[in-house]
Amino acid sequence: MAVVVISRRRLLGLTAGGIAVAAAGLTLPRLAANGEPGALLRTARPLPPAYRVPLPVPPVLAPVRPDHYEITQHVADLAIFPDVRTPAWTYGGTFPGPTIVSAAGRRIVVRHTNRLPEPVVVHLHGGHTPHDSDGYPGDLLLPPGVGPMPSMPGMPAMPGTIATGTRDYTYPLDQRAATLWYHDHRMGFTGPNVWRGLAGFHLVHDDEEAALPLPQGERDIPLMITDRAFDAEGRFRYPAVDPEMPGVTAAYQNGVLGDVILVNGAPWPVLDVRRAKYRFRVLNASNARRYRLLLAPGAPFTQIGGDGGLLPAPITQPALELAPAERFDVIIDFAAFPPGTQVDLVNTLGAGSTANIMRFRVTGPPVRDDARIPAVLSRSASLNPATASVTRDFLFQNSAGPIGWKINGQPYDPAHPLAYPKLGETEIWRFVTDLHHPIHLHLDSFQVVARNGSGPGPYDHGWKDTLDLYPAQSAEIAVRFTDYAGRFVFHCHNLEHEDMAMMADFVTR
Ligand code: C2O
Ligand code: CU
Ligand code: CU
Repeated sequence: MAVVVISRRRLLGLTAGGIAVAAAGLTLPRLAANGEPGALLRTARPLPPAYRVPLPVPPVLAPVRPDHYEITQHVADLAIFPDVRTPAWTYGGTFPGPTIVSAAGRRIVVRHTNRLPEPVVVHLHGGHTPHDSDGYPGDLLLPPGVGPMPSMPGMPAMPGTIATGTRDYTYPLDQRAATLWYHDHRMGFTGPNVWRGLAGFHLVHDDEEAALPLPQGERDIPLMITDRAFDAEGRFRYPAVDPEMPGVTAAYQNGVLGDVILVNGAPWPVLDVRRAKYRFRVLNASNARRYRLLLAPGAPFTQIGGDGGLLPAPITQPALELAPAERFDVIIDFAAFPPGTQVDLVNTLGAGSTANIMRFRVTGPPVRDDARIPAVLSRSASLNPATASVTRDFLFQNSAGPIGWKINGQPYDPAHPLAYPKLGETEIWRFVTDLHHPIHLHLDSFQVVARNGSGPGPYDHGWKDTLDLYPAQSAEIAVRFTDYAGRFVFHCHNLEHEDMAMMADFVTR
């Protein structure tokens, strides 16, 4: 099968002639009506019914031999609608892909085989991973039988290694217990590839976490929240790959939003819960949509962890706000609800179909619940910003020109890394934004020092790898890169911004 290698800039109409407003010296990216990023792509058939299907929990991947895993990426049909099947790009046939469960400090190898029609790149988001296995956007894995790669017009020349058929990713996992996820990271195509289904969980456990009396087993559930749109036949619809929507694509440069909410791949699912505490590892794996989650009837979330693992102590959160790629590890205690109560997880940033996420149905008599939320969760040391050796400034901005999304005035250019951090040294990175940008760093988690000149925000606690910056905000983080010298990326995790070049390399040494 021929590999389609076309510049997404061209597909999205972002060549020099493509943005009329850019020529006028001003780009006006589309904000949804409520000020949130992105433009809504509607589903061209009746939406699947809400609260009908049970919440799926992705299967845990069994190793083929100790510490060795194999995943074949291939097209598979998903049952999202009751009447039609949705062809998806999958890790091993499911969306989300299988969950990999690992132990901190125990190196594993994941062998990926590409049976999809196009090149892929696998990134372990949140992984403390050497360059070779980090899923650098130019380190492609081609399907077998594909000739030399044609060059990509309009895209920067990508350094990178090319593998054909299979590629081994080695993960030392020398890091804290945390909820990681893996997803596609192909240069210029991350948005459509993730949209079509290339995302899965990777959970890391450690001894500190294992010693805690937190909910376990069936009461420790990952929740991957995504929004999607479908065509009349039930296929995933995405503006850049939909030939029936000529001309509309530039409207989506600020992010593609769908009108169907999927949790673990199922539309508005239902989970029957006992009157007990549950641990949910909530991941926003959407391309561009932000969520503000609430429980109705009201009940708080007890946040115990974030992107980079457990917090020092639990925090009561009346609501959770998640930008793309952020994870919140929370406990919900259903003991207070009478049996039969329906507790809805709702999204106050959504409207209509996107205002609902999923439903919990409280069942049965009280049940024995030995789980507790200890007052101290983790003793992980924090970085001391006062010891920082360098402060770096990064402006995330949409500016005039053929490519709108830039960092420090530069669209992604691997020939010009924006930082050369020294391994082991604490640095301050300062970010300034024009619009919403969830900023993500590869290689190491960071800590938020300040937002808009005051302390960290309510969702900035603990170790983070993605920072949800609002329009016209500034933030300061402390970060220390360790262990692995090499070339890594940092970027906006609005996947359309990322594909449209809001990315840069940093080189550790
Ligand atoms: Cu979740 Cu560079 O990515
Ligand atoms: Cu990442
Ligand atoms: Cu952005």
